[in-house]
Amino acid sequence: MRHNFYLPGDKPHENVIDEIIRVDHSGEYGAKKIYQGQILATKHLKKLYRKHDDIKYNKLLQTLQQMYDSELPHYEFFTNLMNLRKSRPSFMLPLWSTVGFTIGYISGIAGENVAMACTEGVEEIIGNHYNEQLKTVKDIISNNEQLNDKPLLDSLHNKIEQFMHDELEHLHTSTHYNAEKMCGYFYFNMLVKSITRIAISIAKSI
Ligand SMILES: [Fe+2]
Ligand SMILES: [Fe+2]
Repeated sequence: MRHNFYLPGDKPHENVIDEIIRVDHSGEYGAKKIYQGQILATKHLKKLYRKHDDIKYNKLLQTLQQMYDSELPHYEFFTNLMNLRKSRPSFMLPLWSTVGFTIGYISGIAGENVAMACTEGVEEIIGNHYNEQLKTVKDIISNNEQLNDKPLLDSLHNKIEQFMHDELEHLHTSTHYNAEKMCGYFYFNMLVKSITRIAISIAKSI
């Protein structure tokens, strides 16, 4: 029977932890790429509409840059952890790079409503995903009395909790842009969420 929580008798907790690190490393890498795409697209728009909407684009660029900057320590943490455990990244990393950047650029060039609708969809799923992982890591810690890697698991738990708050902060920021006013918001939001869910399940296995 499928469940979200770690139970005794499940696969070794080391494998579960490696899977968590691999998925999150991929996700944070994809997030970086999405913001890079959106920043580049917004710079192009700013150039195109020179002088007309400078203030609007500068404000949007500042927001996107802040979100991008806060993704960097997330990505760095999972990269370091992966190196420490000598575990492997997702084989699909080049795909996350292309898909992430493309989604970022297209949503960015379509304007701030669409860019923020994209952020809303991605961050909602990632926030929930981190919340589920928190429960899993907590269960591993409480179901195993003698854990050699307890300090690492405690650190992982704390970081996931911190990153989840950062992602929800991004979600909160995006809601200030009235993304739901964009044409076809419902379908676009569903599409972004589905792509994010698919990316998570692929990174879990490969
Ligand atoms: Fe992140
Ligand atoms: Fe984020």
